[in-house]
Amino acid sequence: MQSEEKRLSDRLGFPVYLQKEVDSTNLRLKEAARKEEISPPCLLIADRQTMGRGRLGRSFLSPEGGLYMSLLLHRTEAPLTVFAAVAVCRAIEEMTPLKPKIKWVNDLFVNGKKVCGILAEGMESQAVLGIGINLKTPEGGFPGVPVAGALDVETDRLLLARRIAEHLTGMLQNPSDPSVLRDYRERMMLTGKEITYEKDGQQKSARVTGVDEKGGLLVVLPDGTREILFSGEVTLGSGQFLENRQPQ
Ligand code: BTN
Repeated sequence: MQSEEKRLSDRLGFPVYLQKEVDSTNLRLKEAARKEEISPPCLLIADRQTMGRGRLGRSFLSPEGGLYMSLLLHRTEAPLTVFAAVAVCRAIEEMTPLKPKIKWVNDLFVNGKKVCGILAEGMESQAVLGIGINLKTPEGGFPGVPVAGALDVETDRLLLARRIAEHLTGMLQNPSDPSVLRDYRERMMLTGKEITYEKDGQQKSARVTGVDEKGGLLVVLPDGTREILFSGEVTLGSGQFLENRQPQ
């Protein structure tokens, strides 16, 4: 009988590695790439992570039952996190009745809960794109993390991973396809909303008007000044903190 690894690798046309437990799929790929043991593209999927990494040095809780995958890719000018968010939305939408929303820049929400986080890490000539999806709410929920949630619908985990990888590699072959940005904009949670953010040590309030082709968040300040944000945190004007701080 063919192994799942071989079946997936044959289907995708590049190596796929399935592991029960790793510290972090992003870390494993970065280290193997640095030692030149692997080359892009390739995909690592783990059942669980002991040191799942999130943005801004945070951790990403990764118990069994979720999907934790990282792709090693050639470095690209394309906005990888935007592409990844759309690839995950498209895969979830074709496999489930759910319609995820995107919280700029790279978090996916379902029913007001964060169900997916994305972490892109660049290296010299390569990039690692990590995607974590909470498929099922663990017993006891996500204690202390009211914003975290899960898809909680029947899904084939490895098929979902394959479809995400297929959507993503397809987008990278045609990076100027306007449907990617269109799909991102249609799913954006923050458009039209008042947000606060910090820039140059200053707390600012603004209204979100959209996202540009590089994934920058377009905002207009009360005095009419326009700015483009490329990184950092944004908070809804009400002061509600939207970023998913995964349980430690
Ligand atoms: C975030 O929400 O801040 C980003 C979370 C990214 C988690 C994924 S899970 C697979 C990959 N491996 C990691 O260690 N992190 C990413």
